[in-house]
Amino acid sequence: MREIREIALRRPDDMHVHLRQGPQLAGYVADLAASFARALIMPNTIPPIATPEGLAAYRDAILAAVAPSGGGLTPLMTFKIQPGMDRERIRALKAAGAVAGKYYPVGVTTNSEDGIAESESVMGAIAAMEEEGLVLCLHGEEPGAEVLERERAFLPRLAELGRRFPSLRIVLEHVSSSDGVEAVLGLPDRVAATVTVHHLLYTLDDLLGGGLDPHLFCKPVVKSARDRAALQRVILEGNPRFFFGSDSAPHPKASKEGRAGAAGVYSAPVSLALLAGFFEERGRLEQLGPFVSRFGAEFYGLPANEGRLLLRREAWRVPSEIHGVVPLAAGRVLSWRAATENPPH
Ligand code: DOR
Ligand code: ZN
Repeated sequence: MREIREIALRRPDDMHVHLRQGPQLAGYVADLAASFARALIMPNTIPPIATPEGLAAYRDAILAAVAPSGGGLTPLMTFKIQPGMDRERIRALKAAGAVAGKYYPVGVTTNSEDGIAESESVMGAIAAMEEEGLVLCLHGEEPGAEVLERERAFLPRLAELGRRFPSLRIVLEHVSSSDGVEAVLGLPDRVAATVTVHHLLYTLDDLLGGGLDPHLFCKPVVKSARDRAALQRVILEGNPRFFFGSDSAPHPKASKEGRAGAAGVYSAPVSLALLAGFFEERGRLEQLGPFVSRFGAEFYGLPANEGRLLLRREAWRVPSEIHGVVPLAAGRVLSWRAATENPPH
């Protein structure tokens, strides 16, 4: 059999990404735009994206950074759901371009100190989102539960939200456990999950089984081989309710290497290369395209992207730092590379 040298994909979507703000934004945008046509932009900035004006300004800042990168990234905007948001605000956020709202339980991850402590306090906002056809994105971890149990402890809330809002589309973001996978499979088709590269490929042993790797520390934390196997199973089967969302979340090297290191894995520069390797090893390369270019768009009701992205077989070493951030798989030699006319580094 002839070795495949090139994979042509419909330009992919990243349905969960953090781009940050300020001077860092341009570099992170360039890395993402090198491979992705659209991305769902998370709102956990400071201050959070929670008003129509804030949302529009953030989108404009991203678009201003996209132009010089030459990539052509369309940001799909989200807002942070906050207690007391009324119907008017939800309508205005939609009119400003929001496609989804993000539910952060209090204290479970980066910049979630202002998250939701009392779920009842946001039921009005969620009802309005259902009415407006906005997607509910869940950081599905229960505050107060043990760190490895937080996702499982949140799952009853997922089921309850599904029951209470019968036409709401819900995404369990960065699903990380076999229980999370099972919960989604047991709910109607309007409930889906994003899957990251790191939860698909790594386990707790990679994080702390040998030397501690702070650059693989994220929330929810990567889990057991059994949990990873459950994720791999649904992805290799090509279940359309499990689509790609990188949760690429850059933090400067210094804020990850020390006590109280920040949670977040910077995967944007390597995610497609790692995914191509994964699907190829399993003999399922044909599932890569649907996972990154089709299922997410279909769930969100977006048209398929125009244009192609080429992945070439090429040995390359992942840099040890990009924009002052240590990327996922730093220093490793990968065998697939996204071909861009305008290399960002
Ligand atoms: O590890 C994470 N980092 N998980 C999140 O949910 C947020 C993210 C971030 O913003 O750094
Ligand atoms: Zn995230």
